[in-house]
Amino acid sequence: MSRVFQVQAGSPASRSRRPGPSPPSQRSPWSERSDDSANRGRIVAGYLSPHPPHLIYAENPPQNEPRSHGGWDVMRWGYEELRRRMSARARPDVLIVHAPHWITMVGHHVNCVPNPRGISVEPIFPNLFRYHYDFRTDVELAEAILGEADGLGLVTSAMREPDVRVDYATIGALHLVNPAWDIPVVSISANNNPYFYSDASLDEMEVLGEATRRAVERTGRRAVLLASNSLSHLHWDVEPDLPEDMSREHPYNQHQYEWDMRLLQAVREGPTSRLRTLIGEHIEQTESETKAGSLTWLLSAMGWPDLAGDVLAYGTVIGTGNAVVEWMPRG
Ligand SMILES: [Fe+2]
Repeated sequence: MSRVFQVQAGSPASRSRRPGPSPPSQRSPWSERSDDSANRGRIVAGYLSPHPPHLIYAENPPQNEPRSHGGWDVMRWGYEELRRRMSARARPDVLIVHAPHWITMVGHHVNCVPNPRGISVEPIFPNLFRYHYDFRTDVELAEAILGEADGLGLVTSAMREPDVRVDYATIGALHLVNPAWDIPVVSISANNNPYFYSDASLDEMEVLGEATRRAVERTGRRAVLLASNSLSHLHWDVEPDLPEDMSREHPYNQHQYEWDMRLLQAVREGPTSRLRTLIGEHIEQTESETKAGSLTWLLSAMGWPDLAGDVLAYGTVIGTGNAVVEWMPRG
């Protein structure tokens, strides 16, 4: 066994397994068929799309240096189903992702770098995730979100420094939804304020969601939203010698599992307005990563729709609960 928080980056074993970076070879899953103008300027789908680095490690994509024997298959099948469904629909103009590990202490930041490139490393699991990324930002939409958020009274900042490393929660969700990386991106930071308050104030995420929707409508984009959050978030502090040893994977405890199921049952039944209070209760009970606000941002941006969510998969990763969920607005 090895202590999770003492894992050394680039161990001799992992170095010997590195394939080295290579360009993405995946074929885009998105349909190329065009969409009619009536569908412009709207959010066409929202996904709870968690980012455990283990899922990408298990996929063995060419962009990630470490190699694995697989693992966490059911979660990865959920993402496969997500990609299959999207391939049957018109291609979106942009993926907008809110992620909890781009932490900003003051205000909400939006990445306005036109072509972020670099290596994203998971600081706790550098043995699993050292990912070479290269993608395009929809700068016009990024700036529109900043403008709308400013107008609604939020503290904001445009991030224009090309050498800032993109966090693994942003990269993880984007890779799992679109491994071909052929759709422009807008990446939004997680303001850290909720972590300073025991009641996990998420009010600002409601406003940020509203700003996001207004910007999508004003710029005429067909947008897919990604909330890069796990659910219950207590986890092991040791990992097996073989990280993908599935005989060691299970919920952290029964309490965490039952609260994840309580939340997901409400998701499956709908409407999303039920989640407004339940998300906060779930955070209090499970230390849920939704405390960072990504899920609240997504549902606010979609106007807390009168919809049931479709749970495509649930599984645990080092004991944390993770669900892939689709909300697909009508029409
Ligand atoms: Fe995370």
